[in-house]
Amino acid sequence: MSAAPVICIDGPSGAGKGTVSRALAAELGWHFLDSGALYRVLAIAAEDRAVALTQVDALAALAQALELAFDGDAMAERILLYGEDVTPRVRAEATGERASRLAAHPPVREALLERQRRFRMPPGLVADGRDMGTVVFPDAALKLFLIASPEERARRRAKQLSQLGLDANVRQLTAGIRARDERDRTRRVAPLQPAEDARVVDSTTLDIPGVLQQVRTLAAERGLTGRGMGTRS
Ligand code: C5P
Repeated sequence: MSAAPVICIDGPSGAGKGTVSRALAAELGWHFLDSGALYRVLAIAAEDRAVALTQVDALAALAQALELAFDGDAMAERILLYGEDVTPRVRAEATGERASRLAAHPPVREALLERQRRFRMPPGLVADGRDMGTVVFPDAALKLFLIASPEERARRRAKQLSQLGLDANVRQLTAGIRARDERDRTRRVAPLQPAEDARVVDSTTLDIPGVLQQVRTLAAERGLTGRGMGTRS
């Protein structure tokens, strides 16, 4: 049986990956993987159990054992950790920062690998992350790498946070984004970089419908038109 097709949308935080990949998954009727949420939830679980971000073995064991569920669809999702709704904590800036630190440990990434691959189910999967195209789904039907300037990404993040009722300071966010990019790009395993066969899309001056249109066109060129059509072996 041929594996379900995957569309990978990788790139730095705030480039629009989340919004674009959720909208695409909904449009195609495909499954959705927010891989960053797995690292974020692990950061929360570690915090709750007083596991330090440097305790690599304990973090990897926690990653293996995580009881995590995504409730709802890609457009309105709740994230449950051991049955408790942790969605607002998952989205907090501090959680992203902690997630980026623990994501640099190879055993932690390894422990989350199979869990991510289990999201690949018919009729298809849209996967959002940093290493979807390079490590997790190297045989994906379409790989996109979405970028935008750090300032624009900080502005978008500030808007998102204020919509969630959380504090936002654009200058601080820009500095945080630059630091996180640097760590994600220079880490030893699965550094943030486009796969060789990825298409790079710059969203700095494009709005979401504009990016989505480009992505839709690239997907259609590969016969990935939704509801299982375009499945390839
Ligand atoms: O995408 P998001 O901001 O939710 O990811 C939080 C952090 O998790 C990133 O800064 C990155 O360090 C890490 N991450 C990763 N690989 C992924 C997704 C996220 O290393 N596939």
